Parts: sequence; structure tokens; C-alpha cells
Amino acid sequence: MTPDELKRKVAEAVVDYVKDIPVIGVGTGSTVNHFIELMAGFKGKIDGAVSSSEGTSARLKQAGIPVLDLNDVGTLEIYIDGADEINPAMQMIKGGGAALTREKIVAAASKKFICIADESKQVDVLGKFPLPIEVIPMARSYVARQMVAMGGRPVWRENCVTDNGNQIIDVHGLNLVDPLSMEKAINDIPGVVCVGIFALQPAHMALLGTPSGVKVIG
Ligand code: 5RP
Repeated sequence: MTPDELKRKVAEAVVDYVKDIPVIGVGTGSTVNHFIELMAGFKGKIDGAVSSSEGTSARLKQAGIPVLDLNDVGTLEIYIDGADEINPAMQMIKGGGAALTREKIVAAASKKFICIADESKQVDVLGKFPLPIEVIPMARSYVARQMVAMGGRPVWRENCVTDNGNQIIDVHGLNLVDPLSMEKAINDIPGVVCVGIFALQPAHMALLGTPSGVKVIG
């Protein structure tokens, strides 16, 4: 099975978890895109979705699902999103698609985060995937120097402007054995809008696509 087929399988599997939920939080990425395609079947049956990116909003609208403003909705029952890496504590690296800030906001506003991914995203220790950090443009070099001081190798994701008008630095080689402390430390750097470590708010459940079926964790 290809990674894309595994992504389709988890997207199909997660449909059972969102049945009868009037407003769903929807993440960003190729795995979630499969889920959005399936959401076309919810048209007229749900009130709508809160989106984590402009790209996801466009796809939701195409599927006939109303896109709702988080400010009008309040707390969400459920948030469905992918991950670039997920460890046994359900902590994740996210932001490969540059949507990390809005993803973290919608996740925080949700009672339950279900991560959907193919099994290649499962790791023992986070950090092989370069850590995305969204930064205010004028702070890019400053934040990059702070990352070097913390042992990382920052690379500016050129030609990438986030939905919030900011820039992304991808940091290679960081030691992420303690994701919680690292998330807090990077959050404290002036100019950082959001770091792609999701440890303060890990997933509650993960559906991982494997060739022998969908593995449910949590
Ligand atoms: C976007 C993300 C995605 O969830 C992450 O990159 C996984 O994407 P994909 O489902 O395409 O593998 O964090 O910012």
C-alpha cells in the first residue's frame, strides 16, 4: 500500500468518530484532504466546520461544508488533523504545511484531538522531522540565532508566507527528548508566533494507517 492509500484508510476510519457532531475542527494537509473529500457526504447534515488554514477552507467550501468562525462557535467537540511526527505520549511535530499556528489554536479550542496519519509518522523520539517555527518576519534572523544557541540548524523556508503573513524557519538537529520543556522555551523567544511542537496539548487519540489495517492508539 502506498502512503497515500494509508492516508485514505485513516480518513475513512475517522468518519465514525465524527458522526452526529454538528461542528468539526478540521486541520490541514494531505491526510486531512482525504477526510475533507469524505466530508462532502456530511453536506446538509452538519452545521459546518472550523478550519485551520485558507487551503482547508477552500476545500471545505468545495465540498459544500460551511466554514464557521471560531469566535462564533466557542468550544469544539472534536478536532481532526494530521502530524509530521507523533511519539508514544501523543506529542507531535506539526507545521510541515505551514498551518501550525491556526492548527494549534483550533486544537486548543477543542475537547478532543484525533490525529490521523500513516504509520511512517510514528516515532519514539521527536525531532528527525525539522521543527517548523512561525516567526514575525523582522524577527527571523534573531530567532534563528537563538535556535543555533539551542543546538539547532535553522533553515529559512523561503517563498513561504503563512496565512497570517509570517515566515517559517525549519530547525534541524534539535534535541527533543523533552518536548514539553522545548515547546515552552521556544514559545518564550520574542518574535516566535508558534512552534510546531504539540506537547502542551498532545493528541487524545491517534488513528495510524498500516498495511494490515488502522491502528487505534489512546
Ligand atoms: C500542516 C501540518 C500537517 O498536519 C502535517 O504536515 C501532516 O501533513 P500530511 O497529512 O500531508 O502528511 O501540520 O501544517
